[in-house]
Amino acid sequence: MVTVAKVMGEGDLAAAAAKIRHGKLVAFPTETVYGLGADATNDLAVAAIFDAKGRPRFNPLIVHVADQRDAASLSTWPPLAATLAAHFWPGPITMIVNRRDNNGLSLLVSAGSDTVALRMPDHPLALALLRLAGRPVAAPSANPAGRISPTMADHVAVGLGDRVDLILDGGTCPIGVESTVVDLTGSKPRLLRPGGLTRETIETAIGHALLDPQQETAKDESPLLSPGQLSSHYAPRHRVRLNAEMVAPDEGLLAFGPNPIAGATCTFNLSPKGDLREAAAHLFAMLHDLDRRDIAGIAVMPIPSAGLGEAIVDRLKRAAAER
Ligand code: TXA
Ligand code: MG
Repeated sequence: MVTVAKVMGEGDLAAAAAKIRHGKLVAFPTETVYGLGADATNDLAVAAIFDAKGRPRFNPLIVHVADQRDAASLSTWPPLAATLAAHFWPGPITMIVNRRDNNGLSLLVSAGSDTVALRMPDHPLALALLRLAGRPVAAPSANPAGRISPTMADHVAVGLGDRVDLILDGGTCPIGVESTVVDLTGSKPRLLRPGGLTRETIETAIGHALLDPQQETAKDESPLLSPGQLSSHYAPRHRVRLNAEMVAPDEGLLAFGPNPIAGATCTFNLSPKGDLREAAAHLFAMLHDLDRRDIAGIAVMPIPSAGLGEAIVDRLKRAAAER
């Protein structure tokens, strides 16, 4: 059985950091979701992440760092990355930048490309683990590939079991959706994945709009796509139906706002007061709960797509996509 450890003190974190240095897999909490971490400089350890998740090798991993200096030593770190880091790190934004030659990172984290995804998480346990490990940590979300992301240690234990060496239990992740991924390798920054930091907040900080994934500029011949943004993803066992206005008696309801539709077998309300921050924090846990129920499908009420709603609607569309 996998060990799920509540962190009581520095000793527990030091033991977890030693496991990372020895090439083991350690799941840990971040402000967004739980990550499945391994030493990003160790090919075998990184390969073990792909195996544990059943993740296709063409889908690169995010490398987590303890501070901006580490990010700058691993990559060419353009001025815009420094600006975004100054505004938002530690925090839920991941930047895709060009790798520096001989930076020590496993090529597997980049799935063979010249770029690397870097992120400094805003969570005390994650930051302490990174500092004690003394090296960059590759970590995708700690769920089997294509399934719902974990926001509690229990989700990781159920999904990955003893494919993980240790799960650090830090309670529930406060933001609840993954980091926003921004590609800084082209002539203009591009939003590859909406996430916990809203598009509007980033655009205000940089003073202009972010490009969309497929949007080309005259200078970029072929925009970088995020291989992880495959359409079927976050898939619950049950069929998911979006923008429901009615619900069948054998369906479970994922509601939003003060007036949930009546008549479902069971109802989970993302935010009775209609708050998107609260809805993001509840999203994956409620999908995990609904998935355990004996129901015919999951009906989801309409959710506004502005602000954090962009990430929530993105995840729900993928959950509802044809498999
Ligand atoms: O909040 C998060 O970002 C969480 C926590 C654990 O930090 N991590 C996470 O990792 O969501 P993952 O692997 O589930 O999602 C990473 C996304 C994928 O869509 C992947 O394709 C993309 O980032 N990605 C990683 N490296 C990339 C690269 N070099 N170029 C383009 N996309 C990249
Ligand atoms: Mg993921």
